[in-house]
Amino acid sequence: MQTISRVLQEGKENGILVRTGQYKSFRPKLLLLLGLFLAVLVTIFIISVSTINSTGLHSVVTTVTSTFVPCREDEPNSLGKWIQPPTVLMHNMTDEELLWRASLWPRRKGYPFKRVPKIAFMFLTKGPLPLASLWERFLKGHKGLYSVYVHPDPSFNAKFPADSVFYKRQIPSQVAEWGRMTMCDAEKRLLANALLDISNEWFVLVSESCIPLYNFTTIYTYLSQSKHSFIGAVDDPGPFGRGRYNDNMEPEVPITKWRKGPQWFELDRDLAATIVKDALYHHKFREFCRPACYSDEHYFPTMLTIEKPTALANRSVTWTDWSRGGPHPATFGRSDITEEFFGKIFDGENCSYNGRNTSMCYLFARKFAPSALEPLLHIAPKIMGF
Ligand SMILES: *[C@@H]1O[C@H](CO)[C@@H](O)[C@H](O)[C@H]1NC(C)=O
Ligand SMILES: *[C@@H]1O[C@H](CO)[C@@H](O)[C@H](O)[C@H]1NC(C)=O
Ligand SMILES: *[C@@H]1O[C@H](CO)[C@@H](O)[C@H](O)[C@H]1NC(C)=O
Ligand SMILES: *[C@@H]1O[C@H](CO)[C@@H](O)[C@H](O)[C@H]1NC(C)=O
Ligand SMILES: *[C@@H]1O[C@H](CO)[C@@H](O)[C@H](O)[C@H]1NC(C)=O
Repeated sequence: MQTISRVLQEGKENGILVRTGQYKSFRPKLLLLLGLFLAVLVTIFIISVSTINSTGLHSVVTTVTSTFVPCREDEPNSLGKWIQPPTVLMHNMTDEELLWRASLWPRRKGYPFKRVPKIAFMFLTKGPLPLASLWERFLKGHKGLYSVYVHPDPSFNAKFPADSVFYKRQIPSQVAEWGRMTMCDAEKRLLANALLDISNEWFVLVSESCIPLYNFTTIYTYLSQSKHSFIGAVDDPGPFGRGRYNDNMEPEVPITKWRKGPQWFELDRDLAATIVKDALYHHKFREFCRPACYSDEHYFPTMLTIEKPTALANRSVTWTDWSRGGPHPATFGRSDITEEFFGKIFDGENCSYNGRNTSMCYLFARKFAPSALEPLLHIAPKIMGF
C-alpha cells in the first residue's frame, strides 16, 4: 500500500516537474494557439446562430438527419440500396419495362434483414375517392404495415393533402375498360408497381366504392394467417362460364381449367409475381377472350388455376350483392347503412378458412355510393371496430 502511494506521489511530482518546465519554455506559442482556437469556436457559434435564425431550427435538424440517415442506405455496396422501396411512385417506364423490372425477384428463401410484411391496398378507380376518409381512419396508426397505390383514369389528377395516406400514391395509369384486357393490364400495372416494394406481401385490389368490414388488426391477422389467397375461381358449366370458352385457347388453357370469378382479389407475393411474369396466357386471352367473353372475369382465375391451384381459396373476400340481377351489382347509399344490413353480411354465409368452417367470409364490401360515407363513419366504431 505504502509503496503504491509512494510511486504515485513520485509520478505526480515528476509530471508536475516536467509540465512546469514545458510551460516555461512554450508559453507564448500556447497562448497564440489558444487564441486561435477561441476565434474558431466563436465563428462556428455565430454561423450556426445565423443559420438557425434564417432557416429555423427545424430545417437545420432535417438537413442534419437527411445527410446522415440515407447515407447508410445509399452506400453503393450495402444491402440497403436493394431493399428500399421507391420514394417516388411516378416513373417513366413503359408497361413492358415495368413488368420486366417487377419480375426481378430473389431466388433464395428467407430475408437476411428484418422484413415486416405489408398489405398493399391497390385502388383501381375512375377518378376521386369519395370514401377516402373511411380508409384513412381504417389505416390510422398502422404505418409500416400497409402501402397504398392508386391507379385512376389517366385524365384524373388526384390532389390529396400531404398528411393523407393517398398523398403521392398515384402510379402512372392508362385507360381501363370494363370487361376488356385493358382492365387486366391496369390490375397487372398495380401489382407490378406494388411488387417494387419488397415488403409488400399481400396485394388487395379495391375500387373507390369498396369499404373494409373489420379493423386493420383483424384484417391483417386474417390475411397473414391464411394458407390460401382469396380470389374467386369457379367452374361454371353454363353459358356465362364454360360458354365463353374458345377452343383456340387449347392446349395451354384446357376447358377443364377454365374459371370465372369477380375481379376483386387478394393475392400473396408469389401469386402476384406469377401474374406479372405471364406473357403466354395474356396472349391467349387478348386474342380469344373478347366480349361477350369478359377477360377481367376469367384471365387471373384461369391462369392461376393452371399455375398454382393449391394456393387458391377459390373465393373472394369482397362482398358484393348480385341478388338484384342484371350485369351490375347493387349499390348502397345513405339509407341502406344500418346494423341489420351489416348483420346480413357478417352472418349470411359459411365458408372455409384454412380447412375450417367459418361465418367470417368477407373482409371488404362493395358497392357504396358517396352518400353512404357519413353514416358509415358514424356506424364504423360500433360495427366494424374502427
Ligand atoms: C418523365 O419524362 C419527362 C420528359 O422526359 C420529364 O419531364 C419527367 O420529369 C419524367 N418524370 C419522371 C417521374 O421521371
Ligand atoms: C381451389 O381449386 C383448385 C382447383 O381448381 C384446388 O386444387 C384447390 O385445392 C382449391 N382450394 C381449396 C382451398 O379448396
Ligand atoms: C353456418 O353455420 C352455423 C353453424 O355451423 C349454422 O348455425 C348457420 O345456420 C350457418 N349459416 C348459414 C347461412 O348457412
Ligand atoms: C362445413 O359446413 C358444411 C355445410 O355448410 C358441412 O357439410 C361440412 O361438414 C362442414 N365442415 C366442417 C369441417 O365442419
Ligand atoms: C379490432 O377488432 C377486434 C374485434 O373484431 C377487437 O377485439 C380488437 O380490440 C380491435 N382492435 C383494435 C386495435 O381496435
